[in-house]
Amino acid sequence: MEILIITADGSHTVYVPELKEHYHSVNGALTESDHVFIKNGFDYCKADPVNILEIGFGTGLNAFLTALKSSECRKTVNYTSVEKHPLPFSLIKELNYPSLAGGNGQEIFDAIHLARWNTFCSINDFFNLKKISLDLVSSPLTGSYEIIYFDAFGPDKQPGMWSREIFEKIASVTVKGGILVTYSAKGEVKRNLRACGFEVSLLPGAPGKRHMIRAVKI
Ligand SMILES: C[S@@+](CC[C@H](N)C(=O)[O-])C[C@H]1O[C@@H](n2cnc3c(N)ncnc32)[C@H](O)[C@@H]1O
Repeated sequence: MEILIITADGSHTVYVPELKEHYHSVNGALTESDHVFIKNGFDYCKADPVNILEIGFGTGLNAFLTALKSSECRKTVNYTSVEKHPLPFSLIKELNYPSLAGGNGQEIFDAIHLARWNTFCSINDFFNLKKISLDLVSSPLTGSYEIIYFDAFGPDKQPGMWSREIFEKIASVTVKGGILVTYSAKGEVKRNLRACGFEVSLLPGAPGKRHMIRAVKI
C-alpha cells in the first residue's frame, strides 16, 4: 500500500513500504526531477522534435514537467513512458504537483493521467504522450529516441532493472548521440552502461546526491 509523503521542497513523493523505497528523493522530489531530467536531459538535447523514452511513469512527475517545458520552449515532444504497476488514480489526484506549478498545471496533469494507455495522445500543442503498460524485464522495447529518462527504483532495491540486459534493450532504441540521464551514479551502473555502448559522464547530483549520470550513445 503506497503512502504519500512531503519531501524537503514541499512536493509529494510516494513511499512503498514493501520495498522500503521512495519514488523520488526525500530531499525534494520536484527539485530532483527538474535537476536530473529537465535541466541535464531535456535542456541539454537540441533535437526538435524530440523523442523521449521514460523508464517508470510512476506519478507522472517527469512527464508533467516535460509537458510544461515543451510549451514554454515551443518544442514538439513525443514522450513514451513505460510502467509495470500504474498507481491508483485515488492517490494520483492527491499529488500536489499541479498546485505547485500553478498556471494551467492542473489541466495538463489531469490530461496526462486521464490519457489512454498504449496509444499516442495529444496533451497540449507541443506534447504527445504514449503511456505503455509493460514489464521492461520481460518485454522488448521499440522505437527510436534521442533522450532516455531512466527512473527505475534504486539499484539496491531493484538490481535487475539496472542490468546489462536492460541497458542493451535501451541502447538498441537510442539514436547515436542520444542521451540517457539518471539519478544514480553507482559504479555498476556506469560499468553496465559502458558495456552497452554509452560514454558515461558524472554531473553534480540533485540535493543529497553527489553525482548523477548523463550517458551518450556512441
Ligand atoms: C522511481 S519510480 C518512478 C518515478 C516516476 N518517474 C515518477 O516521476 O513518479 C520507479 C517506477 O518504475 C516502475 N517499474 C518497476 N519495475 C518496472 C518494470 N519491470 N517495468 C516497467 N516499470 C517498472 C515502478 O512501478 C515505478 O513506477
